Amino acid sequence: MEKLGFNTKAIHVGELIDERFGNVVTPIFQNATFLHPNESEEAYIDPTRNKPYLYTRLGNPTLTSLESKIASLENAIYTLSFSSGMSAISTSILSIVKKNDSVLAINQLYGQTYEFFLKLKNEFSIDVDFVSVDDINSLNISKKNYKLIYVESITNPTLQVVDLDVISKYAIEIKSNLIVDATFATPYNQRPLEFGARISVHSGTKYISGHSDVIIGLSSTNSKELYMKLVENRNNFGSVPDPFCAYLTLRGTKTLGLRMERHQENALKLAKFLKDNRKVANVFYPGLEDNKYNSIARKVLNGFGGMLSFELKGGYEAVKKFLKNLKICIAAPSLGGVETLVTLPIETSHRQLSKEEMKKFGISEGLVRVSIGIEDYEDIEKDFSQAMDKI
Ligand SMILES: Cc1ncc(COP(=O)(O)O)c(C=O)c1O
Repeated sequence: MEKLGFNTKAIHVGELIDERFGNVVTPIFQNATFLHPNESEEAYIDPTRNKPYLYTRLGNPTLTSLESKIASLENAIYTLSFSSGMSAISTSILSIVKKNDSVLAINQLYGQTYEFFLKLKNEFSIDVDFVSVDDINSLNISKKNYKLIYVESITNPTLQVVDLDVISKYAIEIKSNLIVDATFATPYNQRPLEFGARISVHSGTKYISGHSDVIIGLSSTNSKELYMKLVENRNNFGSVPDPFCAYLTLRGTKTLGLRMERHQENALKLAKFLKDNRKVANVFYPGLEDNKYNSIARKVLNGFGGMLSFELKGGYEAVKKFLKNLKICIAAPSLGGVETLVTLPIETSHRQLSKEEMKKFGISEGLVRVSIGIEDYEDIEKDFSQAMDKI
């Protein structure tokens, strides 16, 4: 097929259209089981087995449709869907590392991912070194034979940007496997496999599905061997998404490009507004020209995304008041939906960390994380402004 643009692929690739029905979008195959044996010469083939569909824990046509669409957006050969971002992450990691292997990971990880690595370290004899994003970007790391290097390409919650150019070249040089969680960037702004990563993972719960109504995960790779390992582990762990969630994700993906344009337009305006507010101590958004990661972001991302965080001078008391007084923006964890969501990382995404860890990673009591939605910008700013005035 000729080379198609992102939005065209998001809308058309992978749709399961059958002229015998004349359907225009992929149907929801809400069934657990399929005919067996299916001797029809026209039977649809489950790519996870190269045989007709058998049982939804192994594969399902609605899932295949989503997986094909995401693979095309990631410029990947294979994508596999999972029951959550965490199952995509844990299954991808366990498809690479074994007992006594060494892992290098950034220290500012999504809290649950960090907890999973601690479990591997403490209970499964896997050696995990945590380093800062700055150390990764300058390759100030021990020269170990790392089996896996694990990064989030834009970190949560202080929006540090990993130099994928640098770390993927290094991973290739030392024959390590790089996994990139690109949830904040989305395939619209970054496709890690194009840099040389082995697996790109997403919490599809966020921007990809985009409407705060689905929990789903996605892993993409160009390696057949790794894909087969992911399939084997998904079958064993049973971490397959429900066909209805896959359908909602398919539907959401069609507007990913449009939504991201609006998210990042609103985010840049809000970042500038917050920077000029006297009650704000710090704003973290890689799109601001004086942000420490702005030049790396320009190199490795096509856009700066819709996430930002900021610190209020008044600390915990001030952020609690601010949250309480928001009228349109919603105080809730998660991110990437059409609505603006505001949360305190110390109480939600990073609640698992100890006080010392929070301090080390720059997650203060006054830090507010914002997932900027696609509402009319003026309404978001007015809402922030009135809630700030009440502090
Ligand atoms: C960067 C990142 N990765 C992974 C996850 C986990 O995704 P899920 O909640 O879909 O399991 C999250 C959830 O907030 C996240 O922010």
